Amino acid sequence: MRTMIVTGTGTGVGKTVVTAAVAALAAAAGERVVVVKPAQTGIEPGAPGDLADVERLTGGRVATLELARYPEPLAPATAARRSGLPPLRVEEIEKSVRAIGDADLVVVEGAGGLLVRINDDGETLADVATALDAPVLVVATAGLGVLNAAALTAEALATRGIRLEGVVVGAYPAEPDLAERTNLDDLPEVTGAPLLGVLPADLGGADPEDFETAARCGLHPVLGGRWDATVAVRQTPTVRPPNSRSDA
Ligand SMILES: Nc1ncnc2c1ncn2[C@@H]1O[C@H](COP(=O)(O)OP(=O)(O)OP(=O)(O)O)[C@@H](O)[C@H]1O
Ligand SMILES: [Mg+2]
Repeated sequence: MRTMIVTGTGTGVGKTVVTAAVAALAAAAGERVVVVKPAQTGIEPGAPGDLADVERLTGGRVATLELARYPEPLAPATAARRSGLPPLRVEEIEKSVRAIGDADLVVVEGAGGLLVRINDDGETLADVATALDAPVLVVATAGLGVLNAAALTAEALATRGIRLEGVVVGAYPAEPDLAERTNLDDLPEVTGAPLLGVLPADLGGADPEDFETAARCGLHPVLGGRWDATVAVRQTPTVRPPNSRSDA
């Protein structure tokens, strides 16, 4: 059983959409996939959360597991404290994931970014990755400001000895601006990890079939798709200083 942790450069960056895309391709390849959302915040009990999005986008072909839910849209530690509900422990998350016996792939989607606290002892998704000895996929926004957040995330992972599998841009606009274009070149540079895909920003209402096609076109072969970075990234016109030599 492979396990992958999905985090992001922030909240609302497309972690759930990328998680669903990875899960959809694995399921299409015949794998048994379970998507785990340890802590769902900002959603009332009984209302659809991130896992409902995963089920909708994958056409119900992946199993899902939510461990805790806190209604206020806050970091899990804060939301748990304020709700009076028990916070999660990394050990509990690890046990729940390890107890999933009949899966080929388990994808764990964090809340917010990597160092968002799960409980008041300061445990984070990074501790979950360490406990499970699982690689991390970082979902990034496309535009200005993402390089810093992506570099900080990569540095935090490296400090903890956690493998950064790569970076996926969760929602890439049809008409990218200059920062959105150049970031495709710079994200691998600042993170030291490969760009493993770029999903288009129009997948909100996609049906499962269109979603799977978009996932296949937008994700790198490492994630089961056929996205080609050498083609996709060759769109940044380089501005050379006037006296530079092309063979310098
Ligand atoms: N590629 C995309 N195409 C269309 N809509 C998208 C895309 N990526 C993200 N969105 C939309 O943007 C919003 C945030 O995306 P998503 O829920 O995947 O982010 P997240 O990082 O999982 O957020 P959270 O931190 O709340 O878990 C959602 O409404 C989602 O449908
Ligand atoms: Mg999400």
